[in-house]
This record gives sequence, structure tokens and C-alpha cells, in this order.
Amino acid sequence: MGKIIAVANQKGGVGKTTTVINLGFALGDLGKKVLLVDADPQSNTTSGVIGKKDLRPSLYEGLIQDIDTKKIIYSLKDGRNTIRENIDLIPSNIDLAGAEIELVSSFLRELRLKKVLEPIVENYDYIFIDCPPSLGLLTVNALTCANYVLIPLQCEYYALEGISQLLKTIDLIKRSLNRDLEILGILLTMYGRTSLSQQIVDETRRYFKNKVFKTIIPRNVRLSEAPSFSQSIFEYAPESSGAIAYKELAKELIDHE
Ligand SMILES: Nc1ncnc2c1ncn2[C@@H]1O[C@H](COP(=O)(O)OP(=O)(O)OP(=O)(O)O)[C@@H](O)[C@H]1O
Ligand SMILES: [Mg+2]
Repeated sequence: MGKIIAVANQKGGVGKTTTVINLGFALGDLGKKVLLVDADPQSNTTSGVIGKKDLRPSLYEGLIQDIDTKKIIYSLKDGRNTIRENIDLIPSNIDLAGAEIELVSSFLRELRLKKVLEPIVENYDYIFIDCPPSLGLLTVNALTCANYVLIPLQCEYYALEGISQLLKTIDLIKRSLNRDLEILGILLTMYGRTSLSQQIVDETRRYFKNKVFKTIIPRNVRLSEAPSFSQSIFEYAPESSGAIAYKELAKELIDHE
């Protein structure tokens, strides 16, 4: 049975999209069947793997028009890269910004994404949902259909700010819409060799104990360059520290089970 993992943090720019793409690709490379779901109207996951192409129908049509999920799944297979063999994408575009508003008045509005993913969840080992930087209805939909939530945390001064709000939301969803939701782990990202970074690591570990992944993602400029070539780190810079870290994280996740 496929595991649905929502990658969420309402703080912007903490590494959600980078993690969805590169952890997804790392697992695909290990032979796992992976679906990336772009639930952010910014569409960074979509452009990060296929460029600025506007794929329609997209997640918007799935959520709002109830169209068959198979029609919004796109294979990334391109014949050149074997790493793409195992990866599918449900893309988004700016239409999704409207979905957030349209959903407000719709029937069972928190369960729309669950309904979209339910028919295909068994076709995958892992489904990663890239959430927008807010705790709005799109994130609530992701948390409602997920088995796990993965929380990226940037190794910077205000990293832990807002985390209690996120944990409160997760708890609320656990008590109402999704009893089985579990925190998979906190992922420390953009670690630099500074005492501040180390301080954040220590503080996070002290507070969240074994809920923090052992793997830490370093700050690596290659990770920030790769999306402009619509490539994962394994295609763009396979020897980089970023590639090594995300591969490590994939192994840790598999071992975790
Ligand atoms: N480990 C890293 N080292 C260097 N740059 C990184 C790293 N991780 C992410 N970045 C860069 O930092 C920026 C923010 O990362 P990303 O887009 O993954 O965050 P996000 O949480 O998805 O942001 P948003 O909340 O806007 O969706 C991007 O430009 C990305 O390329
Ligand atoms: Mg993002």
C-alpha cells in the first residue's frame, strides 16, 4: 500500500519543494514507484521537473471538477533518463490559487484531495504532496489524506517560530479529519557550517528528540540551481553534497519502516 507523505511548513522557503523533488527522485532511483503531487499554486515542483510547460488538466481539475485522476497524472519518463522511469507527477498551475477559494463553499471541502488520490494510491510506493506556505485549505486537504507529514526546518534563526502553530494544526486534524496522521520526521535543511546552524540542530534535537531525521541537508548551491534546468539534483549534479544528502535521506526513510 502506498504511503502518502505531506511535506508541510507554513513558513516559506524552508525546502519543501526541494525535498519533494529530490527525495522523490532518490526513492525512484532506488526502484520505488513515486508520485509527486504539486499542491502549491506557485507550481515550483511542476516547473522544477518539467519546466514552464502548462500541463492541463492539472490538480485543479481533479479537485474542483472531479475528473478522473488518471487524466491528471503525467509520467516523467523521457527515454533519456532512467531515473525518471519510476516518477509520475500531478502538476499544478496558477488555476490552483482559485481552487483554494472555490473549495471554501464546496461539499466535504477538506476531503477533496483524498478523493483524488484514493483510486491510485495502490499504484505507488510513495506519494509526496508539496504544500503551499500556508495552513489554508490546500494544506488541510494534504494533511487530511496523508499517512505522514514531513516537516522541513531551515537551520536559521527563526526556524522554530511558527512550528507550534503547525503542530497545533496537525493535532487538530488528527482529532477531527485524519486520526492516523503521524509526524514522519523533522528534516533540518540548508545547514551551514556556522555556530548558529549547529545551535538550531541542537535545539531541534533537544525538543523533538528522535522525531528529527539523522540526515541533515546541507546548504548547497547546486540544489538551488537544479530547478532552473528542470532537473533533480541527481541529473544536474549527482556528485554534489546535496545529492549525497538526499540519497542518504531516502535510505533513512526506507530503513525507518
Ligand atoms: N539545501 C539547500 N541549499 C541551498 N539552497 C536551497 C536548499 N534547499 C532549498 N534551496 C533553495 O532555497 C529556496 C527555497 O527552497 P524551496 O523552494 O524548496 O522551499 P519551499 O519551502 O518549497 O518554498 P515555498 O514555501 O515558497 O514553497 C529555493 O530557491 C531553493 O532552490
Ligand atoms: Mg515550495
